[in-house]
Amino acid sequence: MKIKITGQKGSKEVDIYSKEGYELISELCLKTACQHRIMYEPTWLGIPIIQFPNDIVMMQELIWKVRPDIIIETGVAHGGSAILYASILELIGKGKVIGIDIEIRKYNRLAINSHPLSKRIHLIEGSSIDTNIVERVKSMIKKDERVLATFDSNHSYQHVLSEMELYSALVSDDSYMVVMDGAQGLVWDIPDGKKEWKDDNPLIAIKEFLKCHPEWEEDSYYTRLGVTSSPKGFLKRVNES
Ligand SMILES: C[S@@+](CC[C@H](N)C(=O)[O-])C[C@H]1O[C@@H](n2cnc3c(N)ncnc32)[C@H](O)[C@@H]1O
Repeated sequence: MKIKITGQKGSKEVDIYSKEGYELISELCLKTACQHRIMYEPTWLGIPIIQFPNDIVMMQELIWKVRPDIIIETGVAHGGSAILYASILELIGKGKVIGIDIEIRKYNRLAINSHPLSKRIHLIEGSSIDTNIVERVKSMIKKDERVLATFDSNHSYQHVLSEMELYSALVSDDSYMVVMDGAQGLVWDIPDGKKEWKDDNPLIAIKEFLKCHPEWEEDSYYTRLGVTSSPKGFLKRVNES
């Protein structure tokens, strides 16, 4: 079976069962899923999580593999992703999520704090790129603790690049930074997209960061399911040798 794609560069037919076909359909799925705001549908253990199911599964795999002591999360919103990370840490039997958000709304804070997993979550209100906040986070990490970071706050290029520069030094060897919502750069042209996303998105920050940081590399294993809001977003700290 083939589909005909007509874009700015003309038309072409693609076999839907080929690798290219799967990648293309995943990208189309991403666009229509974003238009229908499907990432706002899931909940995790009762709390709304703003993620696609594929990304939820991938974060579960990543946390189970890295077994971090600390997960730094920028962008908490309702708290579903913090509860997801905390739930995996609970099964591992150790670890804490440090969740930073510029505005933690009263009812979100109440829901997180009254959740059975709240003991594994420490909330900090403030901007993730405020150096005082970064210092606070740093002070909460003990020597030799394994640290993983996820960035899901303000998705502008400059903000994401600052987050990467500020928090990358805290992430352990063989651990990861997950830069979320690079998909913004792929869905700027959907009916409810924003033209400015085309040239202002996390994908550009990732590219810029990797140019200057050879100790980091993209791990495409965690985006292998196709539809993801974090294309090229799973970055591993590798040994410099
Ligand atoms: C996409 S939501 C986070 C979704 C959440 N991680 C989840 O998966 O359910 C983005 C959040 O980032 C927060 N935010 C925006 N700018 C920020 C900043 N400068 N520092 C920290 N958080 C910020 C917003 O308040 C919002 O709650």
